[in-house]
Amino acid sequence: MNEPSAAIPRQPAHSAVRPTAADAPSRTAESNSGAATAAESMSLLGVAALVDHAAELLDGVTRRTPLQRNERLSKLTGAEVWLKREDLQPVRSYKLRGAYTLMSQLSPEARQRGVICASAGNHGQGVAWSCARLGIDGQVFVPTTTPRQKRERIRELGGPNIELVVVGETYDAAAEAAAAQAALSGRVLVPAFDDLRTLTGQGTVAREVVDQLGRAPDVMVVPVGGGGLITGCGAWLSVHSPQTRLVGVEPAGAACLAVGLDAGHPVTLASVDTFVDGAAVRRAGDLTLALARQLGFHEWVGPSESGRWTGADGAAVRDAAVDPYGPAGRPRPTLMSIPEGQVCSEMLALYQTDGVIAEPAGALAPAALRRGPRDTTLRVLPGQTVVVVVSGGNNDISRYSEVLERSLIHEGRKHYFMVSFAQEPGQLRRFLDAILGPDDDIVLFEYVKKSNRETGPALVGIELGDPDDLAGLLARADASPIRVEPIPPDSAFFRYLV
Ligand SMILES: Cc1ncc(COP(=O)(O)O)c(C=O)c1O
Repeated sequence: MNEPSAAIPRQPAHSAVRPTAADAPSRTAESNSGAATAAESMSLLGVAALVDHAAELLDGVTRRTPLQRNERLSKLTGAEVWLKREDLQPVRSYKLRGAYTLMSQLSPEARQRGVICASAGNHGQGVAWSCARLGIDGQVFVPTTTPRQKRERIRELGGPNIELVVVGETYDAAAEAAAAQAALSGRVLVPAFDDLRTLTGQGTVAREVVDQLGRAPDVMVVPVGGGGLITGCGAWLSVHSPQTRLVGVEPAGAACLAVGLDAGHPVTLASVDTFVDGAAVRRAGDLTLALARQLGFHEWVGPSESGRWTGADGAAVRDAAVDPYGPAGRPRPTLMSIPEGQVCSEMLALYQTDGVIAEPAGALAPAALRRGPRDTTLRVLPGQTVVVVVSGGNNDISRYSEVLERSLIHEGRKHYFMVSFAQEPGQLRRFLDAILGPDDDIVLFEYVKKSNRETGPALVGIELGDPDDLAGLLARADASPIRVEPIPPDSAFFRYLV
């Protein structure tokens, strides 16, 4: 188990000290390493001031997206849950805030050189949109995993100003290629998260929320990829709304910020589940991790028996189920990692109940409020005001069948089995009569009769009416002469099926 790393000095959240010139990086900084390295030691107060500056730059440029009360999640939690609808930005995600903040501060000479970025799909749209608006030429590098819908949107939004380059199988591979090309071409790199200009642009979401609500929310829930949105929002809230509890949500299959916080430095994950493509990042940023440490995530003591971080084991929680508030009632930032299937269930609820089209990363934050195992459910107090960022809505329609499948499996309603049938007539009827329950449905059946053997295996997929019906089905299978073997969800065969 990992211990929390040593605390680094934290800026008092409500300090009256103004940021100094040394705090703030040059607002026109445009080298490719740019403000990021210089600002690693920057105070949260300085970052918050730059968020205010970004808000000025974005005024009249980005859409002031709606903050909508959500009946479903409010009912579920007993809290007042509000959705910040960043999926309704012109590029259908908050990503243009950071891209435009950075690009609008470039000098005429830098604009002339053009820009370059790597993107899983949404940042590229923010860059493309800003290129068209500012009259800058740009190249967007995306990996082959970027859905077609996002590639098309990048081309449409950037028009003649944008060249799309598809390279590598992961975001990180595309980022490497973009950095190499930037060094060769002299184009200005526009980082997706690890740059002060980018993350302070993203931080304007929190500022806008407090303005729209007219007061500080009790809790703000934000999705996490490389950490730009959470650190920009977190820095601003820590100064202007220290009573707000900040919650970051990572996908379990790509929890790079949690792993980096555990280690005390950015760690490259050996593998990532790319399903939540907007937030499937292999390595948190240097700057974003340093800021996350300042925000106090590393100080978090979780609810597990040991009272410490529970380690980098996928769906483990860094949650505040027991005591989200520290001494003197001061909220502690919380980081959670939640399973991809939980995100799928939330995508479907957003679609079917609320009429909101969210992409997987867009549904990440609201998914944390779903009722489920304690470790992956964010507990909020009844009556609290909870703001949840729906960060993006660029969902490719062809993904919904996978979303449905993953959701059913997550909810315990869909299971796969290998069933060994004796090679004689009437066996299937026997299986249906003796083992299947009245509300269970066969959704997959693959069988090839092998006449020279005594038994023949069939692959059977069953959708249960209720997840609790599984125990009865397995008991009936045990009592029957037909051999029924569940296919474990963590097996290679299961992964092949789904
Ligand atoms: C829709 C959406 N949500 C969340 C994220 C994660 O953002 P960050 O890298 O700022 O943590 C991204 C990143 O691209 C995204 O596109």
